[in-house]
Amino acid sequence: MRIRHKPWARPELESCSFYVASPSELRGRWADEFGNGQPLHMELGCGKGGFIADMAAQHPAVNFLAIDLKSEMLVLAKRNLEAKDAHASAHVRLMSQDIERIVQMLAPEDKIERIYINFCPPWPKERDKKHRLTHPRQLNQYRLFLQEGGEIWFKTDDDGLFEESLRYFDQCGFEICYQTWDLAKSGFPGSAPTEHEEMFTRMGKKIKFLIAVADHTGHSVSFSPAE
Ligand SMILES: C[S@@+](CC[C@H](N)C(=O)[O-])C[C@H]1O[C@@H](n2cnc3c(N)ncnc32)[C@H](O)[C@@H]1O
Repeated sequence: MRIRHKPWARPELESCSFYVASPSELRGRWADEFGNGQPLHMELGCGKGGFIADMAAQHPAVNFLAIDLKSEMLVLAKRNLEAKDAHASAHVRLMSQDIERIVQMLAPEDKIERIYINFCPPWPKERDKKHRLTHPRQLNQYRLFLQEGGEIWFKTDDDGLFEESLRYFDQCGFEICYQTWDLAKSGFPGSAPTEHEEMFTRMGKKIKFLIAVADHTGHSVSFSPAE
């Protein structure tokens, strides 16, 4: 996605009380960063932050990490959070991080309870599929810091990505405990709409959604933060 450069984005983020400039320094210590004993959820590729702002406002007893590569997106997420959640600084952290190197900022001790992946780029060409945020290369990283029974909630408009992701989750030892090819019709209540979801819904596209559960029995993976 093309996004216009915003020279004010970085300074505005750096003055924000819930922006983390060096997330890798908190690896293994995210619970201490919040200091409230609440479960930890994260959104990968939060974009403009409509979803995380709604979820944070609805769930003050959950801590949230919102991650994107681009400061131009994160600064809009910051503004969304400030508008919707008066308590954001107590239980939300925003950060810039390449998700393909997510283990640089999360360790098994961080025990993430839930990951949200919403409308990640579909990377349809065979040679690019390894960049998908649901590719086995990624799922094996997430397993390292997802707690036993932890969940991944995944939404997309893309049929091919959804179908192949179902296979990826199976290959990596996740159990699919919920899936629908038409989220609006399914009546599933728990997932706030994202900016892309609203756009694709207006275009008449059906939203695909699944919940995958990490089954740690008999599945072992190892990664070092440098990989
Ligand atoms: C299509 S947008 C979706 C945004 C939002 N989740 C939504 O549903 O409206 C995908 C977002 O993921 C981010 N993203 C994609 N790959 C990433 C990566 N490897 N690391 C960090 N962010 C990434 C992009 O910068 C972009 O903001």
